[in-house]
Amino acid sequence: MKTPAFQTKLPDLGTTIFTVMSSLAAEHKAINLGQGFPDFPMDETLTGLVNKAMKDGFNQYVHMFGYGPLRETIAAKIKNLYGTAVHPDQEITVTPGGTYAIYSAITAVIHPGDEVIIFEPAYDSYIPNVKVNGGVPVVIKLKHPDYSIDWNEVRRSITPRTKMILLNSPHNPTGSVLNGADINELRSIISGTDIFILSDEVYEHLIFNGKEHQSILRFPDLMERSFVCFSFGKVFHCTGWKLGYCIAPPLLTNEFRKIHQFNCFSVNTPMQVALATYLQDASHYLSLGNFLQQKKDYFQQLMAATPLKPLPTFGSYFQLYSYAGISNTNEVTMAKKLVTEFGVATIPTSAFYTDGTDNKVLRFCFAKKEETLETAAQRLSKI
Ligand SMILES: Cc1ncc(COP(=O)(O)O)c(C=O)c1O
Repeated sequence: MKTPAFQTKLPDLGTTIFTVMSSLAAEHKAINLGQGFPDFPMDETLTGLVNKAMKDGFNQYVHMFGYGPLRETIAAKIKNLYGTAVHPDQEITVTPGGTYAIYSAITAVIHPGDEVIIFEPAYDSYIPNVKVNGGVPVVIKLKHPDYSIDWNEVRRSITPRTKMILLNSPHNPTGSVLNGADINELRSIISGTDIFILSDEVYEHLIFNGKEHQSILRFPDLMERSFVCFSFGKVFHCTGWKLGYCIAPPLLTNEFRKIHQFNCFSVNTPMQVALATYLQDASHYLSLGNFLQQKKDYFQQLMAATPLKPLPTFGSYFQLYSYAGISNTNEVTMAKKLVTEFGVATIPTSAFYTDGTDNKVLRFCFAKKEETLETAAQRLSKI
């Protein structure tokens, strides 16, 4: 047997450090604070509603845009939270997860040679999504250690080929969030251009210290050129559900759906039916920020017994810790050392940079049970 000759579309991709760290974690029976998912159970009200939907017979294909009542509930939630009216039929598409929504949005508008501004450290799907469409990622580094955006650098990076700016707030892996000044800078840079915005807001409700989420949905002038992507899996502690949605103005939604209808077409029905009811109670999502903040604060308190120093985090369920004060070892080596010698898996932040920028910082996921966090901190106190 001979495989036909072919040319890979993504020559630079191999096994990622995420896979390496997960296998090391399993091999060393380590506490896995590397991977970004909760180890506590999700809300039984929601699983109960899914059971009910299945028993009630909601088990066949649903509308290509998503279950109608769910889209209506999402529109009501957006109106309540951000004051913006979004049309459930023309502007909301339910997707199998946030990553899929991001991929579909990029695929809908990026042509070969188009440039996409991406801030690093970055969620790992963005660059391959741009490249597989023939687009050119233009990478700008967030400013360490607060991981804010250098808007002057953004200004300098705009060219006639710039087609999109990709934002992520609250941010993975750093926990930084956009503020009002960022929105004004963004507005001044793109006004009068044909640049799209892709806003990855999968950690929408996971925001701390009384900060307000600067959703692009708040700003009608930015919305008219944006795809805004969300994830139910991320916010409702069920990452394995892979369920999310994309909000975009009608013309962009139309393009988005051209990709979606021949890729996935219809997203699983019973979970959408369940969420249509669950989301009607605003406390289900308004309580999430406090819930995660308590975990973050508890983790920080426990980690005070270790030599690792926390960097500021205002959202998501990640916390960066610096070990610059105790070692000059590179991040990958340090992460491997922590998993093999101390039994705690983390992710080196260099994994989120194309050029492997190494600031001696590791990413910890604190969306874990208290006992998980306690054992991890106790192990790390021996460093
Ligand atoms: C920034 C960011 N965007 C998107 C996603 C993916 O969301 P989903 O699991 O719904 O595809 C993640 C998951 O880790 C993420 O961190």
